[in-house]
Amino acid sequence: MKSSGPLSTSWTAYLCLLSVLCSLFTPVVLVKENDFKKCHQSGFCRRNRAYADHALAQSSWQAPYKIFSAEGAAAVSLKDGQFEATILKTVDEQGSTVNLPLTVSFLKSGTARVTVDEEKRKSQSIELRHDSKARKERYNEAEKWAIVGGLTPDTDAKITHEDKAGVTVQYGPEGAFEAVIKFEPFAIDFKRDGTTQIQFNDRGLMNMEHWRAKVDKPEPEKKEGEEGQEGEEKKAEEEPKKEEVPAHLDESTWWDETFGGNIDTKPRGPESVALDITFPGYEHVYGIPEHAGPLSLKETRGGEGNYEEPYRLYNADVFEYVLDSPMTLYGAIPFMQAQRKDSTVGVFWLNGAETWIDVTKAKGSKNPLNRNSKASTNTHWISESGIMDVFVFLGPTPKDISKNYAELTGTTALPAEFSLGYHQCRWNYVSDDDVKEVDRKMDKFNIPYDVIWLDIEYTHEKKYFTWDPDMFKDPISMGQQLDDHGRKLVTIIDPHIKNVDNYPVISDMKSKGLAVKNKDANDFDGWCWPGSSMWIDAFNPAAIKWWTSLFKYDYFKGTMENTYIWNDMNEPSVFNGPEVTMPKDNLHHGNWEHRDVHNINGMTFHNATWEALVSRKKGEMRRPFVLTRSFFAGSQRLGAMWTGDNQASWDHLGAAVPMILAQGIAGFPFSGADVGGFFGNPEIELQTRWYQAGAFYPFFRGHAHIDARRREPYMAAEPHRSIITAALRLRYSLMPSWYTAFFHANQDGSPIIRPMYWTHPSEESGFAVDDQFFVGSTGLLVKPIVEKDKFDTEVYIPDDENYYDYFTYNKVSTHKGKSVSVSAPIETIPILMRGGHIFPRRDIPSRSTQLMKFDDYTLVVVIGKDGSAKGELYVDDGDSFEFEKGQFLHRAFEFKQLLLTSEAASKPSAEGQAEGEWMKQFRDVSFDKVVLVGAPSSWEGKKEVPVTSGGETHKVRLDFYKAEGGRAAFAVLGRLGVRMGADWEVDFA
Ligand code: GLC
Repeated sequence: MKSSGPLSTSWTAYLCLLSVLCSLFTPVVLVKENDFKKCHQSGFCRRNRAYADHALAQSSWQAPYKIFSAEGAAAVSLKDGQFEATILKTVDEQGSTVNLPLTVSFLKSGTARVTVDEEKRKSQSIELRHDSKARKERYNEAEKWAIVGGLTPDTDAKITHEDKAGVTVQYGPEGAFEAVIKFEPFAIDFKRDGTTQIQFNDRGLMNMEHWRAKVDKPEPEKKEGEEGQEGEEKKAEEEPKKEEVPAHLDESTWWDETFGGNIDTKPRGPESVALDITFPGYEHVYGIPEHAGPLSLKETRGGEGNYEEPYRLYNADVFEYVLDSPMTLYGAIPFMQAQRKDSTVGVFWLNGAETWIDVTKAKGSKNPLNRNSKASTNTHWISESGIMDVFVFLGPTPKDISKNYAELTGTTALPAEFSLGYHQCRWNYVSDDDVKEVDRKMDKFNIPYDVIWLDIEYTHEKKYFTWDPDMFKDPISMGQQLDDHGRKLVTIIDPHIKNVDNYPVISDMKSKGLAVKNKDANDFDGWCWPGSSMWIDAFNPAAIKWWTSLFKYDYFKGTMENTYIWNDMNEPSVFNGPEVTMPKDNLHHGNWEHRDVHNINGMTFHNATWEALVSRKKGEMRRPFVLTRSFFAGSQRLGAMWTGDNQASWDHLGAAVPMILAQGIAGFPFSGADVGGFFGNPEIELQTRWYQAGAFYPFFRGHAHIDARRREPYMAAEPHRSIITAALRLRYSLMPSWYTAFFHANQDGSPIIRPMYWTHPSEESGFAVDDQFFVGSTGLLVKPIVEKDKFDTEVYIPDDENYYDYFTYNKVSTHKGKSVSVSAPIETIPILMRGGHIFPRRDIPSRSTQLMKFDDYTLVVVIGKDGSAKGELYVDDGDSFEFEKGQFLHRAFEFKQLLLTSEAASKPSAEGQAEGEWMKQFRDVSFDKVVLVGAPSSWEGKKEVPVTSGGETHKVRLDFYKAEGGRAAFAVLGRLGVRMGADWEVDFA
């Protein structure tokens, strides 16, 4: 609307106010559980679930899929690790079939990949309805976004058995894996060491809805007297008749579907893809985030304590989400692991469309070789469109699974070190002065933090890449003050671009044709924070390029090198769209329907911003930091995620750890939850406990809704201010251990905080434990308090090692597989140290990670039952990509037979290269002291020990404290005075 004159100015002001009010309140009103589909409201889910019911109700169900050539003999081939065949699907009673090309790729890593396409769609010989411009194929580009490696074929894979019933292919490390491909019905059993671990189509629920032309059925004959009786009344009368059609044959949602008043036009008709995957002998399955529920997934077909609904993956802006629910949330990683004693296997269902997963368990193992197992887990995967594309991992350890998955989808980017510090956020810091004031106050109260965040209100009328001219008059001086204190700024940039005149970003996006299109191939317009908006189509390489240009310092003025970015609402959230997102018949780059790519959408936007940050200025090579709310498999390569809009309630505090653990085992461990809770005002005890828990989230950010009261840590009254500060300091002192854990995640996909089954896959009693975790490989076992008025807790102990209280060094009397009571008054976080580990700290309190960069280290050696301990420390400049050129130090520590040693754990790839700036500055960083917990009593009386480094030996003071009461004996050695980068040893004999 054009405005001129005073009248229209006030009218504009009124509209603005209205839009602000709408943006504040609309979502609360709009988004409720009922705004999201249940399986029966999603046509393809309903059909496939009903198909399963139908199949499983028959005593002799024959799945209509077989590998047969026209002559009746199977035509199959295996060449260079690739097995090819055609699956025939019988589609009618006359026996007509459609062809579904099958490929099973055996990869060098031991992973197998099964893809099934549909010949008719593959060759684009289908007709679209409604003059749609959509692509005619099944979506086959999920791989392009998710997969970055690991596809080298296993050329040693060979057929070891072949007969009329099927073939057996031997593959994997030492040929220990087998795929038994059965011809009729088509099914595959995956075996390891002769035992079946994973079965495809064992229950015969495979379903690929093949293309068919819409046959317009004749209108039912009208009876006399009904002439002209059209309309709602009549339809309602007809409704019950529909129910007579068995649900799996119900065609009513084949060609279009309505939900919440939105019509999905489905130009390609029904095209779902489904498969049952069975884990015989496996009682637990984990993964498929994001859901707010237990780590060990629940059954989804009803019954006591179970869910009624399948787990759903359809990225959505689920405002005020419910807990303990299979309902969809903001992100989707269709990767599942199954666990039984001493064995872990997994599947990765690479599909970007709406997906539902049913989980049921069968009592008693079908597998005679797994006599110990109590149950098998059946899963049923159902996606709306796309090819079938499933990766199979046969383990046998959780570490193998994490590694194999990471080989495909990539690992966590090695983060900028500051991003592991504490992030102070709220919606909103109202002005640049406000930001400066918070920054000063944090210093005044000696509270460490690294980053302060700006939510949407910093912009001029929700136009990204602009600043509110009244409230943020001088962003550069704000950024400068932060930089002077070694701190960073994160500003939010969302994917919806305000559709108004005189805003170059929107006019540019429109004129370059870079917005997501509606079904008629015009720019799609929807409603989000700014009101009427359009969405960047980050699937389009040209859009990524353009997006990159917007982040240049001379374009996004007011940003500096210490500005980083937060991507929110990238599911995408569309307030007036179906299920608060885009219509499925919208079109993306390449004319793929939104339906095909919905779950990948958030990752493409995150990716565009990541690309933008690495190329802000020529020659500037800093690691980007981009937080995302929506994600898909592979997003771990691009930054961090958080669990969205939680509430300031004890339940939400409790829900966070299982969710973060699920992220970790699904390959995206850089994750956290809003500390304090987004909605509402936490009581001080809750806020305090949340900081204590948050200090152990890989991503640690306090955040609050615009209506919530201010709650920066210094606002808390004593003693809580000091307790919160202590939690923050603990985070900072353990920073070297966190960074090392991130390094491991970066190397092999290990989770950063690790659930019990992951660290102890032999201990069945720990398989369902999801409220405690180990931090990296430090041996620190943490169990945050998540209940009100709770001042002790039961910590589950997974093994026979020694365990000590982190703060008191008290030896905890433990029994493997049992819990032990640990006291946790409000100032205490229950943390135990497991014997056998060495972990690094930096004990001098500091204000930010940047200011700690050259501080000396402390080593904590927790002596294990066998008298030994091991640990690691990785360090680099924490900011650039110089580590890729060998500018890092990675040390391995070992305490064994009374000798403590430090040596290089991995050699820089470019050894011999000159020391860079950081290496030079770091040269004199040393070890200050070593604390040895569980020290032998024979050290009593020992006053000093020899330390040898670089051929020279000097004596260092040793203070021994003998065991007293419950406290274990410990010793403090220091000051050590040996360089962090040098080899050294201390002889305690
Ligand atoms: C969304 C985000 C929340 C943010 C708000 C305003 O609700 O999840 O973190 O504060 O939008 O941008």
